[in-house]
Amino acid sequence: MNITNAEFVTSGTRPAHFPPAEFPEVAFAGRSNVGKSSLINILVNRKSLVRTSSTPGRTQLINFFLVNGSLMLVDLPGYGFAKVPLAVKKEWGPMVETYLSTRTNLGCVVLILDVRRIPTEEDQLMLQWLRAYNVPVLVVVTKCDKVSKNERARQAAVIARTMGLSSDEMAFFSALSKEGRDVVWAKIEAILAA
Ligand code: GTP
Ligand code: MG
Repeated sequence: MNITNAEFVTSGTRPAHFPPAEFPEVAFAGRSNVGKSSLINILVNRKSLVRTSSTPGRTQLINFFLVNGSLMLVDLPGYGFAKVPLAVKKEWGPMVETYLSTRTNLGCVVLILDVRRIPTEEDQLMLQWLRAYNVPVLVVVTKCDKVSKNERARQAAVIARTMGLSSDEMAFFSALSKEGRDVVWAKIEAILAA
């Protein structure tokens, strides 16, 4: 994907806030701090279009970014972080679920997992839920710079088994080295074209 332009469009918590559903859309989901916002920045070749943070729970709204005037990337708030205030946590489920279940132009959800972790029950539920709603999913295993090649292969097997994934449904990525950027784009484009 050749990026000529990427811009923040809007953010919100419910459909009335969302931009018109006029472009194909790709949403990025995963637990807090897994690297969703970092992945989007690398995909669009921008250091800080999307705010990233070492503090989990940074992204609390649904943020929309338009790429090349023709594709919307959507940064979803992360799940599974205990220290997020209760009021925010209570809103997360309905907010993300409403988005995912009603967004008519949603063409793909990129579900992001940390290469060092065993996927949580929430990760598994998210995948099952997306499949139940027939949303095409790409799983991106990120932070690959943090492990050796051997460890990556070991973890890939654990992740595939825990999540019930085949290897072509997974892509490996690092926001630090940018490894996997082109593969992630190619897989997203293939899913959107299917
Ligand atoms: P929330 O918005 O809080 O849900 O987090 P997020 O999933 O958007 O994560 P974010 O992109 O903000 O990254 C969280 C932290 O992980 C930051 O300190 C990033 O610099 C770091 N990080 C993200 N991706 C990578 C990666 O591939 N490698 C390494 N080493 N660090 C990463
Ligand atoms: Mg974020």
